[in-house]
Amino acid sequence: MSQDAFRLISPGGSEIELPVRTGTIGPDVIDIAKLYKEQGVFTYDPGFVSTGSCESDITYIDGEEGVLMYRGYPVEQLAANSNFIEVSYLLLRGDLPTSTELEKFERTIRRHTMLNEGMLNFFKGFRYDAHPMAMLSAVVGSMSAYYHSEMDASNPDHRDIFAHRILAKLPTIAAAAYKLNIGQPFIYPRNDLNYCENLLHMLFAVPAEPYEIDEVAAEALDLLFILHADHEQNCSTSTVRMAGSSGANPYSAIAAGISALWGPAHGGANEAVLKMLEQIGDTSQIKKYVDKAKDKSDPFRLMGFGHRVYKNFDPRATIIRDMCHKVLQRLDRKDTPLFDLAQELEQVALKDDYFVEKNLYPNVDFYSGIIYKALGIPTSMFTVMFALGRSVGWASHWREMIADPTTKIARPRQLYTGPAQRDYAPIEKR
Ligand code: CMC
Repeated sequence: MSQDAFRLISPGGSEIELPVRTGTIGPDVIDIAKLYKEQGVFTYDPGFVSTGSCESDITYIDGEEGVLMYRGYPVEQLAANSNFIEVSYLLLRGDLPTSTELEKFERTIRRHTMLNEGMLNFFKGFRYDAHPMAMLSAVVGSMSAYYHSEMDASNPDHRDIFAHRILAKLPTIAAAAYKLNIGQPFIYPRNDLNYCENLLHMLFAVPAEPYEIDEVAAEALDLLFILHADHEQNCSTSTVRMAGSSGANPYSAIAAGISALWGPAHGGANEAVLKMLEQIGDTSQIKKYVDKAKDKSDPFRLMGFGHRVYKNFDPRATIIRDMCHKVLQRLDRKDTPLFDLAQELEQVALKDDYFVEKNLYPNVDFYSGIIYKALGIPTSMFTVMFALGRSVGWASHWREMIADPTTKIARPRQLYTGPAQRDYAPIEKR
């Protein structure tokens, strides 16, 4: 793969040659792995703005062109023709399944949905108002206590079972967290239902009466999960890889990813968008909030706007905006004040020089919350929904990382700016 070299001139005037590596598509990378050993310097890139941390076959993004592909398939094609379980197979295994492979995979996921009964006891320890992301992370972390002795990361079968458990059990854990919040009994999974139908059943059914699955809601969730399924080396996925690179139990690595996702700059933005729209209230206040977002002395940002990689448009946001229209229509919502407000806010921001110059566009989180809200999912569960979709991406990346013989423990370096060596002074002399 190694191509031309990249040449740098050191401060001393000598020429340094760095190998350049070329992927299937996308920019070349300069391989600096031996830079410190050979030249005694580190590179400096806070936030990894220009740094590739690994080689990966899973997902490709072209931020300038608004392209997102899973294993080479454009997300638009998958959103139009596939479903979340098939996309999960694709991400985990690398190719689309035959019908026999898909049937077997789906059956496996359906049969892993139950939790060890003891795991439900964890929920009794949480306060009734605990945030469901905190519970999700804690209970997924606890899976490492249940499955530690039977998890040998060097065994490909164990790696498969891990991925199946993550995909199958996260909805059960998520629904249990929600039920705790609203004081209702936990609802057991039903393996006769498909992935999203079962999730809706566990979220909204009660033992006292039959629950009818809303097919519009199940289809909408399935599409949202496809769009959230993977996004290459984003903050939570990199966290999973980093935690996993030490050889840590993979369930703990996923718990670390869930924690990273929760932040408002990442998956927590969908919850923050809805709170922001409610705070803005009506279109007469848009200018005030757009001005606040532009004011550098004000910490307020337009939530759901901007992206580290997409600098033209986020293809997921385009699909979700269209879907918003359809879902609200199919649910026969005539009065859609939040959606109307969001669309108006988008229009105002897209015409504003500040947002144009900085290439700030609506991202995946801008419209997703409006759909979740229309489906009756509470705001505190929005990021949990993101986590359910992304769980298969995390599992795929952990599997790829652990199977890669070139994987090393992730261990960045730093530019030290603290005091130089000084001598310890006894307390009475300070
Ligand atoms: N509102 C106002 N200004 C913004 C915004 C925003 N939403 N996003 C970026 N900027 C400005 C920022 O102040 C900076 O200005 P300057 O160059 O004058 O310092 C410039 O745009 C570049 O921003 P950055 O923070 O350096 O860019 P980044 O790549 O480090 O951050 C981001 C990307 C997504 C964290 C950021 O755009 C943001 O905080 N957006 C709001 C939160 C959000 O919607 N997050 C969801 C991201 S998509 C889903 C996911 O990844 O989970």
